[in-house]
Amino acid sequence: MAGNRTFTMIKPGAVRKNYEGAILKMINDAGFKIRAMKLTRMSTTQAGAFYEVHKGKPFYDNLVKFMSSGPIVAAILEKENAIEDFRKLIGATNPENAAEGTVRKLFACSVTENAVHGADSDENATREADFFFSTFERFYDYE
Ligand code: GTP
Ligand code: MG
Repeated sequence: MAGNRTFTMIKPGAVRKNYEGAILKMINDAGFKIRAMKLTRMSTTQAGAFYEVHKGKPFYDNLVKFMSSGPIVAAILEKENAIEDFRKLIGATNPENAAEGTVRKLFACSVTENAVHGADSDENATREADFFFSTFERFYDYE
């Protein structure tokens, strides 16, 4: 991902409420280019694998159940300093602590149903993008 790409998902709750368009507008307005995108649904096994790092934590089962409860929008985004800038745009994990104007402040309903995911490192962005996208589904060389 070379420092200028990140991976995101618009989570099932936000898709159910038809917030995809508004969230994608915020993402574009913040200067991110969409380099890959799809509407898809994770099985419980896939959601469990995606969030494997949290296995054993008290919120893991609910997280997996929620993340496999309906379609999500998965995307690879590009911008300078993508990981950090995207985490700033989405706000704190718990929407009660998220700054005004952030995606989670505007669209999340709880710490589990917190509207969006954002990769937290280059390494995880690469792993997560590989989880969802083949090379043919990525458009890195377009203006
Ligand atoms: P993601 O972008 O979804 O990865 O969120 P994050 O990076 O802000 O948080 P983290 O990776 O630590 O946790 C992954 C997800 O697990 C969060 O988005 C929350 O939905 C959930 N989660 C994390 N911590 C808690 C917690 O203390 N309680 C509950 N109920 N859920 C949590
Ligand atoms: Mg995380």
